[in-house]
Amino acid sequence: MTRADLVDLLSAAGPATIEHIRQEAEVTLLRCCGNKVYYRGLIEFSNICANDCFYCGIRTGNAGVKRYHLSKGEIVETALWCAEQGYGSVVLQSGERRDEPFISFVEETVREIKTRSVTEKLPRGLGITLSVGEQTIETYRRFFAAGAHRYLLRIETTDPQLFAAIHPDHQTLDARIAALDALKKAGFQVGTGVMIGLPGQTVDQLTRDLLFFRKIDVAMIGMGPFIVHKDTPMALWPDAADRTSQQRLDLALRMIAAARLLLKDVNIAAATALQAIDPQGREEGLRWGANVIMPLVTPVAVRKQYQLYDGKPCLDESAQKCTECLAARVRSIGREIGYNEWGDSRHFGRKR
Ligand code: 5AD
Repeated sequence: MTRADLVDLLSAAGPATIEHIRQEAEVTLLRCCGNKVYYRGLIEFSNICANDCFYCGIRTGNAGVKRYHLSKGEIVETALWCAEQGYGSVVLQSGERRDEPFISFVEETVREIKTRSVTEKLPRGLGITLSVGEQTIETYRRFFAAGAHRYLLRIETTDPQLFAAIHPDHQTLDARIAALDALKKAGFQVGTGVMIGLPGQTVDQLTRDLLFFRKIDVAMIGMGPFIVHKDTPMALWPDAADRTSQQRLDLALRMIAAARLLLKDVNIAAATALQAIDPQGREEGLRWGANVIMPLVTPVAVRKQYQLYDGKPCLDESAQKCTECLAARVRSIGREIGYNEWGDSRHFGRKR
């Protein structure tokens, strides 16, 4: 696909053309990745964050957030619960910190999940994905050695001006790109992604984002619509909602389709933010080419304190209820759940 094809795809109009794009993406998904949807139980283990991203509800500057940090025991128990449910993998996500107590906490927690989750059903233990931000290559190596093998770090946008507009000066696009490179060198399967429908963001910028994913040869993509959080600097921007939520959702689904058509055999997540806009948002993501879903398993008591954007779904639902609800959603669109599998991206396997 050329750059012009991508621009056409993202700006196509008319229900028939749009449905054709969706179908092409779905066919490509089934051909290159199969019919299975893989689960990753998402454990948001801490909202303590040193970063100050202008869009994010848990930024360090938001004094209204009650900060929490789950204990190692709580995280390990939650992860083992996921293993019992047949989820082959978990994602540990938190605010960003680079201090040694945090780094060794993550390392030890990963090691313990790994050793304790080995069973007959999961001979290699749970697959562990980390999403704890920019770290040094030495830290990434420690995390990898402890047993994590996938890492999510969104680039947010590859446009230098837009990136600078939504972050404080000390958080730079170059540092983010360097971190993605370091993750690869440390051996991780790397996932990245962007927010879609940022104020002033153009189709041309999103096209460059897609080409960047191809250039750095990612194994996984996680991207979703931008949603304003009321207690952030961006809520005050006059053009914060220059697109309606429906427009942002539509564009996000097209980005998923475009990523599938361009990158073929990577794993693509149907982000929770899709469901914040539309109750069926995540199934829609799957129908438009995604093959990974991240059921929220963060203990209900702290879920409300991990709100990156307004309208986060499933705030009061128990993890058990989320599982049943998601399984029904996956089946409703004729797909199968890949129980007890890591579900690594075929792309990464093929390269190796
Ligand atoms: N809207 C949508 N996504 C957001 N994220 C953070 N804040 C928002 C928001 N207001 C996303 C970022 C980050 C991921 C963990 O959550 O892309 O990388």
